Amino acid sequence: MADNNTFYVTTPIYYPSGRLHIGNSYTTIACDALARYKRSEGYDVFFLTGTDEHGLKIEEKAEKLNMTPQKYVDKMAAQIKQLWKTLDITNDKFIRTTDEDHEKAVQKIFQKLLDQGDIYLGEYEGWYSVSDEEYFTESQLAEVYKDDQGNVTGGKAPSGHEVQKVHEESYFFKMSKYADWLVNYYKEHPDFIQPESRMNEMINNFIKPGLEDLAVSRTSFKWGVPVKSDPKHVVYVWIDALSNYITALGYGGDDESLFNKFWPADVQMVGKEIVRFHTIYWPIVLHALGLPMPKHIIGHGWLTMKDGKMSKSKGNVIYPETLSDKYGLDAVRYYLLRAVPFGNDGVFTPEEFVDRINYDLANDLGNLLNRTVSMINKYEDGIIPDYKSEVTPADKGLENIANSVVAEYKEKMNSAHFSDALSVIWKLVSQTNKYIDQTTPWILAKQQNEGDAEQLSAVMAHLAASLRLIALLISPIMTNAPKKIFTQLGLDDQDLDLTDPKLSDLGTGHKVVAKGTPIFPRLDKEEEVAFIKGQMTKSDKKKGRAVKEEAKQKAQAKLDADKPLEANDKKEIRFDAFEKVELKVAQVKAVAKVEGADKLLKFTLDAGKEEDTQILSGIAKWYPDYDKLIGKKVVIVSNLKPRKMRGELSQGMLLSVEHKDGNVELITVGNQFENGSTLE
Ligand code: MSP
Repeated sequence: MADNNTFYVTTPIYYPSGRLHIGNSYTTIACDALARYKRSEGYDVFFLTGTDEHGLKIEEKAEKLNMTPQKYVDKMAAQIKQLWKTLDITNDKFIRTTDEDHEKAVQKIFQKLLDQGDIYLGEYEGWYSVSDEEYFTESQLAEVYKDDQGNVTGGKAPSGHEVQKVHEESYFFKMSKYADWLVNYYKEHPDFIQPESRMNEMINNFIKPGLEDLAVSRTSFKWGVPVKSDPKHVVYVWIDALSNYITALGYGGDDESLFNKFWPADVQMVGKEIVRFHTIYWPIVLHALGLPMPKHIIGHGWLTMKDGKMSKSKGNVIYPETLSDKYGLDAVRYYLLRAVPFGNDGVFTPEEFVDRINYDLANDLGNLLNRTVSMINKYEDGIIPDYKSEVTPADKGLENIANSVVAEYKEKMNSAHFSDALSVIWKLVSQTNKYIDQTTPWILAKQQNEGDAEQLSAVMAHLAASLRLIALLISPIMTNAPKKIFTQLGLDDQDLDLTDPKLSDLGTGHKVVAKGTPIFPRLDKEEEVAFIKGQMTKSDKKKGRAVKEEAKQKAQAKLDADKPLEANDKKEIRFDAFEKVELKVAQVKAVAKVEGADKLLKFTLDAGKEEDTQILSGIAKWYPDYDKLIGKKVVIVSNLKPRKMRGELSQGMLLSVEHKDGNVELITVGNQFENGSTLE
């Protein structure tokens, strides 16, 4: 059993089916920040990441590239390892599910569960999404396609990925047997799943409707860990993958000492779409194995783009190396952890990225360092005076803020609220900038009254102490800036100790400060935004794919439009299906009739995007004076697949109400709502 001084943190293991973008990197950087923080608190940390290399998706991808799956995953795993090096990730181990000891341990785990009767052989019939590597029953599908006779011929998973019919012999895990145990476990450990709201989502959406037994083997492809006693089956990729968290520590192998030392994990960080696997299947498997539960599973939100999820086909993907090569790694790590609030999604925009560098890093922090080093050079011959408490009237204020910032920061870091932790640090940054204005060192330097020199020295020492403290606090997140700050202050070899950092730790007897180049140069916003945007749509190859995807979407939209609405298409939908509908406030800029279509009006709308949004709506009958709608704010469904009607593109839907008398009226909202804001 892990002792109190150990800390085990894990990232999900990544599918090596494509190059990782800033979204994937977010999870790893977040875990890295936590690992670094806990090390600085004196913990013996084990930080695990790796790759999830089996499954049909990888097999198909390798086939497309005319490679063996092994060759393909070798290449991709090397690329991902390199990425983590570039991003200064301090993982203690990189596990690959194709590692021999992992495969052997998975076979042992499977066999144990089979021997004790938790796994049984049966027949699976249902739907499988290769992209999600996930099984679905028909009622769980977000969309179904039917033939003329009403038979279901295909469909889409809640993620939007296509599913295929699967009918094969399969081993099943008796999930149903453990449903009550699981709900009880949640209730007794309310901080097991974070944010807590996700726990209710799990209970209401997945456990209450009935936990079905899970198919845990496949026979229709080969790229996986064979079931030892029945090798025509390979172990289901999620069982294989989840086991990594214990096999990486040697569980099921010859040496279980790391497992005994570090398990149960302290924090397992996962993106919101895989919370279900980690808070339902994973605890049940562990419980069946007689193992203790991880202490916290944290489900974080996504980093999305203005036009939704990052995807190669949309041409809106941005890679971390692109940004770190140009703006430095600290800017990227800072931005990512700042942009995604705990549990919620964050939106990446090139504008905000550049603003954050300019305002938070270059202005607030960079200038503070510059001014401080200049003043110590000018007023103190380049040597930080010894630290003394409460000499000037403003000292107490700064000292109090520093103490409360440290306490709050520790709480935020310990609960993985990184965005909040950064806001807290920036309170100290801005308070320190204010402290300069309050103490007016340039006046103290001129006046030469009794006590002025002492006050001036105290101010310089406080400024240096505060910068030193700030550098320490940012050190789990930014890996280069702290060293640069220490060097400029003449404070080499600082111990990154975050157990109880204080201003007074600055101490006495310092070397000469060394004025250096600005640690965060200011950026030309227009130029850099253009550069980043250019990177997002760079290669023609990508553009070509985007065009193809658009054509595919259009063809699908046509199919959708032609399909009669089934009565049961309005049956209950799951929350995650509803959550996908994006409702936005938009303002009518122009309205016109559509030639040859009496019922249609063509709306040009400002939905908060650079380009106008065009929506066709069949409400002409109710708006003979449609010009009067100009300037009104309406509500639109903004992420409907665009489709053509009468040769005109319609990029969404306007929400309206049908009155009891059959008249239809558009829903309008007040001017206080900004164009493009999202209805929640
Ligand atoms: N292989 C599975 C995990 C198995 S863990 C036992 C998997 N891999 S993944 O490569 O698709 O995703 C890995 C992680 O990246 C997930 O936590 C996912 O949420 C995260 N992200 C992928 N895109 C993301 C964003 N755009 N933003 C933030 N995180 C994102 O799922």
